Amino acid sequence: MANLAQTRSEPAAGPTAAETDAYLRLGLRNRWHPVLPSRFVADKPIGIRRMGERIVLWRGPGGAIRAMADRCPHRGAPLSLGRVADDRIACWYHAVEIGADGTVLCVPGEPGCSLEGKRLVKTFPAREVKGAIFLWMGDALHPDPAPYTPPPQLQEGAYDAFLSYQEWKTPWRFLYDNNMDPMHGQFLHAQSHSMARGERKAEFAIRATDTGFVFAKTTQKDVNFDWSEWCDAGAIYCRLEIPYPASGGPGGNFGIVFHAVPIDEGSSACFFWRFRKVSGWQRDAWRFLYKTRLEARHFAVLEQDRAIAEGMDADADRAEHLYSHDGGVVRMRNILRAEARAQLKALRAAGLDPLAKSEA
Ligand code: FES
Ligand SMILES: [Fe+2]
Repeated sequence: MANLAQTRSEPAAGPTAAETDAYLRLGLRNRWHPVLPSRFVADKPIGIRRMGERIVLWRGPGGAIRAMADRCPHRGAPLSLGRVADDRIACWYHAVEIGADGTVLCVPGEPGCSLEGKRLVKTFPAREVKGAIFLWMGDALHPDPAPYTPPPQLQEGAYDAFLSYQEWKTPWRFLYDNNMDPMHGQFLHAQSHSMARGERKAEFAIRATDTGFVFAKTTQKDVNFDWSEWCDAGAIYCRLEIPYPASGGPGGNFGIVFHAVPIDEGSSACFFWRFRKVSGWQRDAWRFLYKTRLEARHFAVLEQDRAIAEGMDADADRAEHLYSHDGGVVRMRNILRAEARAQLKALRAAGLDPLAKSEA
């Protein structure tokens, strides 16, 4: 099998390949990213880290998600340790109050102080999709969100989906590599209930789509994990389908919509929506079977992926020897790098350098 070289030509000007990769270690900006299952956020503030940033979340009137930098503008205490009331958050340290739009509303220790009325805390546009909170993670040049229409599998209608959320100690890019690599199903998951059948050899082809591409076996279809799709449509994600055996009950193929967002450079938050095209009684059967039998099996399969991903060194992709089955991974990496390089170049042109900032 021919060795598959990755196209990494150094640009004449602008960020180098190494700088682009360093920038990408904290994820791709200017996209909607899921950050947490909806059920994790209630009336109390909760602090998380995503793409290296500390973020506090809470629910305002009517349950609307509020999200802002988890850093008090006074002396930097975590706002997530504070208290929420009347759609404002009060820092625990000296009780400075911040409104939902990031404005300092009150400095109790010094009423009328110049902080009051200033918008000093960065906020994040938020929305909820199929049981998860998505935030717009824009860069400094793109604070306003781009449109994002969730795929049909995450909308009400023909599909039914369960969300599985996990945090893995591995860089986010390895997780997307794993999802754009259908061939591992035939080996790593060979003992599973849904990936035990089919050929151990395959050829692949890439088909472009409006939002990315499909990487699919040309030698086998609807037998095993035979294709995966890369999508970039306001949010980045993968989508795949695997046929179920008869023991999986009635309905269409089993499928996954997958997102990963970096927590930091070495760990990631993973969102697996496990879906099936079902309606009526088949939908009820799917929901019952999933909860009583299938969820545990999928969890066991996922643990195999986790063992591989967490077992890899953080720079495992520094020296690889790829072959044609890695064509989807290569295409995706090239897309991500081109986009990241453009972002980094624009930020630098505006006098902003996120790499310099992270080293400060
Ligand atoms: S650090 Fe938050 S009020 Fe002082
Ligand atoms: Fe897998």
